[in-house]
Amino acid sequence: VEIAGPGFINFFVNKDAISKALKDMSADPRLGIPKVITPKTIVVDYSAPNVAKEMAVHHIRSTVIGDAVVRVLEFLGNNVIRANHIGDWGTQFGMLIAYLEKKENESGQGMDLSDFEAFYREAKECYDTDEEFAVKARHYVVLLQGGDEYCRKMWKKLVNMTMVQNQKLYDRLDVTLSDKDIMGESLYNDMLPEVVEDLMKRGIAVEDQGAVVVYLPQFKNKEGKPLGNIIRKNDGGYLYTTTDIACAKYRAQTLKADRILYFTDSRQQQHLETVWAICKKAGYVGDNVSMEHCPFGMMLGKDGKPFKTRSGGTVKLRDVLDEAEARVTNLLKERNSTLSDEEKKQVIHNIAIGAVKYADLCKNRTTDYVFDWDQMLSFEGNTAPYLQYAYSRIRAIFRKAKDPSLGDIKITCDAEEDLANKLLAFAEAVQSVGDKTLPNLLCNYIFELSNLFMHFYEACPILKDDVPEDVRKSRLALCDLTAKVLKQGLSLLGINVMEQM
Ligand code: ARG
Repeated sequence: VEIAGPGFINFFVNKDAISKALKDMSADPRLGIPKVITPKTIVVDYSAPNVAKEMAVHHIRSTVIGDAVVRVLEFLGNNVIRANHIGDWGTQFGMLIAYLEKKENESGQGMDLSDFEAFYREAKECYDTDEEFAVKARHYVVLLQGGDEYCRKMWKKLVNMTMVQNQKLYDRLDVTLSDKDIMGESLYNDMLPEVVEDLMKRGIAVEDQGAVVVYLPQFKNKEGKPLGNIIRKNDGGYLYTTTDIACAKYRAQTLKADRILYFTDSRQQQHLETVWAICKKAGYVGDNVSMEHCPFGMMLGKDGKPFKTRSGGTVKLRDVLDEAEARVTNLLKERNSTLSDEEKKQVIHNIAIGAVKYADLCKNRTTDYVFDWDQMLSFEGNTAPYLQYAYSRIRAIFRKAKDPSLGDIKITCDAEEDLANKLLAFAEAVQSVGDKTLPNLLCNYIFELSNLFMHFYEACPILKDDVPEDVRKSRLALCDLTAKVLKQGLSLLGINVMEQM
């Protein structure tokens, strides 16, 4: 400790203490990250695409950010329940079933739904122009809601076809969602009448011009009067809000969640706050349950406007991934490589998917985000390729070393000390992602770690002949621990590293 002028005290960390801490960290398969003492049951609502629609590029935000937080919370020892709240219910299904039936009758067999966009558009067209079709569609909605076997079967077909396609995207994105995580809107359908009845009986909801409404004093309309939230329309139909009330109740009471995280667009904030206020008032969700909206901003093009195709349509997620792989294939063409074709394919996949995911993860999610190919695929700066390259570079050192054995880490210079201190901050970075649901905190950590490693690598020779054996072994141990932290850190973000790039 040193007095540094009036009002300032400098603390220096004892170098032997650093060495000891690094030794413990290296010997620990969890790299010094403890499991939480009291694991929580955490429901994470993320991805949530809609049935009979193709996943658009903006779905990547909820899917990728949510999945990174899920990985971290699980690694910290919590009981995490992935809830893929897909949009699989609503009046549009009458129209979709009627159209699926029409297509099947025309082709005499099951149909390929690979082009959902056209399917949806054509169904809507029939509905708007063909009165007979529209009548049938409306009839099918009623039948579906009444549990009619044929309509249920057709509906299930639509859901399955959509989710088979989406699962391909999840697998391609290395996202941990699977079939068993699907908990769509339809799951809560049977609970809706009960919830509305209960809220009415207890005076929390009232009838107003045939509809059922909840007034909450904390939300006011323009005239300063309590805002009314409809939970049942005057035609008896239920709303997105009603479903989310039943859903939050289910998560708290049946799944016994301690914490419920919602990864949705920032525009859904008022909706969620309304739902939660009603749930708390009704006692469906206790005060000990933490409900957290983890919002994210919009995805913008380089021009600062919402990211669209040249003709102004929504950009398909599939197309973005295809383009990412095509661009990486091109980038790597110019490089000489000894990799086999199979290995090359894997490398292209890892870089392309890593770049797209990381670009989304590395910014504070609450801000809008600008989609920029050149930036995300750059091998310099805060990008996945740069971080993956840092890892591969370390692995190359070990391939080159005649004697790759490790020794005790001794701090002999500033570059080593800075790297060492950063390594020791790994646990804190991971824990902060779990607490704040902000993966960018881990991204920043890994980026800073890579920078400090590159600096150390330039400043401190490792394999040169004049480096004493104990220094070489100490530096190799620093390299090894850095590689392990990079690999583990990136894996918590859902990004792969490779031996060679
Ligand atoms: N399907 C919705 C959408 O595409 C997101 C659902 C979010 N989760 C929820 N419980 N409301 O916007």
